[in-house]
Amino acid sequence: MIEMDVAAVAAAVGGTLVDCPDRAAAVTGAVADSRLAAAGDLYVAIAGERVDGHDFAAAALASGAVVTLGSRPTGGPTIVVADDPVDALGRLASHVLGTLPDARVVAITGSSGKTTTKDLVATLLEGIGPTVAPAGSFNTEVGLPLTILRATEETRFLVLEMGARGIGHVAELCAIAPPDVSVALNVGSAHLGEFGGREAIGRAKGEIIEALKPDGLAVLNADDPIVAGMAARSAAPVVTFGAGPAADVRAVGLTLDGAARASFTLHTSAGDADVHLGMVGEHMASNGCAAAAVALHFGMTPARAAELLGAAQPRSRWRMEVTTTPGGVTVVNDSYNANPESMRAALRSLAAMSSHGHTIAVLGEMRELGDDSIAEHDAVGRLAVRLDIAKTIAVGQGARALYLGAAQEGSWNDEAVFVPDVDAAIELLRGLVQPGDVVLVKASRSIGLEAVADALLEGPT
Ligand SMILES: Nc1ncnc2c1ncn2[C@@H]1O[C@H](COP(=O)(O)OP(=O)(O)OP(=O)(O)O)[C@@H](O)[C@H]1O
Ligand SMILES: [Mg+2]
Repeated sequence: MIEMDVAAVAAAVGGTLVDCPDRAAAVTGAVADSRLAAAGDLYVAIAGERVDGHDFAAAALASGAVVTLGSRPTGGPTIVVADDPVDALGRLASHVLGTLPDARVVAITGSSGKTTTKDLVATLLEGIGPTVAPAGSFNTEVGLPLTILRATEETRFLVLEMGARGIGHVAELCAIAPPDVSVALNVGSAHLGEFGGREAIGRAKGEIIEALKPDGLAVLNADDPIVAGMAARSAAPVVTFGAGPAADVRAVGLTLDGAARASFTLHTSAGDADVHLGMVGEHMASNGCAAAAVALHFGMTPARAAELLGAAQPRSRWRMEVTTTPGGVTVVNDSYNANPESMRAALRSLAAMSSHGHTIAVLGEMRELGDDSIAEHDAVGRLAVRLDIAKTIAVGQGARALYLGAAQEGSWNDEAVFVPDVDAAIELLRGLVQPGDVVLVKASRSIGLEAVADALLEGPT
């Protein structure tokens, strides 16, 4: 973070300093979790549903934080704001960004692949200049400003993930950090339940395009009709990416190897280059083209982009994280989250890995699908059968429709099974997996299916 004294932070957020004898104390970082507080930090007290961050101000200070940003005094040095400290944090991030005229903001949204693509974009842009893009999601009104505050005077690029929870949400994030480049990846059915339809999701995600500076760039997925249609909402030039012939930056001649890693020719208006991705999944080709489109805009050659894409490794955990146990079992831990699109992408990747041995899909519920939940689970179960996955294990009541879909699609013997919970899944797998098998583990985050991957990696297999 760019160092500011406490008084300057208070001024930037329009707050009042209370119980603060040292107005010149230096703030060198910011956290919203008291357990992460360290020397020099600003601690942002957020009133959540279960806990109130103000109660942990003393703990943050004991860990070295110099001041709390809150909506009321906390006993120690506090910048008190009249509104929500989260909004104040946004104002601080905006202020700091305003002091960095050379930093370019790349904003990324989509239903699936924001974090993965953010990491890829960062991998490429680091080849041009200092880049801020912390591992993990950080895509909310808290995570996004905290990311911005990591910038220093040297920062050339800020790569920001933006999640859309409703209409107006992305616009608010863009108001904190107006994008120079906006990337829209896809409009899937993630959070369909909350939004009530794909068109509404498209409207919300397209706010990232409307917020572009006129001399910026919209990077749109040509393979996704709703995203491609966002071109009409852009005052800035548009570059498209994808696999289809309409895309400006496209993956041509895509093949997958036995580890489900994509190879393709990166076709661009600046020339072509061969890409051999080290990361797993066909969908990585699309994410890679999006990242290349961003890097090309900032002057990278296609050959250099191809080289850096090939060397890219996962930075954020539990997204198609591939590990082989000493016993020769390959575990694909994709348990960070799940929606129908990322489920299908993961299953296709698993199917491509069948040359190793048996393919086993351990799948849990995809949450937040609203009325489509049963139909979407049913469809995933059917896809597993059509892809010839050797064994599909549906975990938990929320995934029962997935099991039934597989059963009705014609799985036979014990090809598809239902188990009630994570422990039962682990027990079943312990007696089942053989050297050479490939096990995919995937569900919505709150299902806790990563315990299955952990058990496989730690256990006797
Ligand atoms: N282009 C894509 N299409 C479909 N699935 C994808 C794509 N890119 C990544 N995925 C898969 O989607 C899942 C989530 O990836 P990632 O964490 O990058 O997405 P996200 O959009 O950041 O999610 P969140 O909304 O939880 O932050 C992973 O299983 C990943 O393998
Ligand atoms: Mg994410």
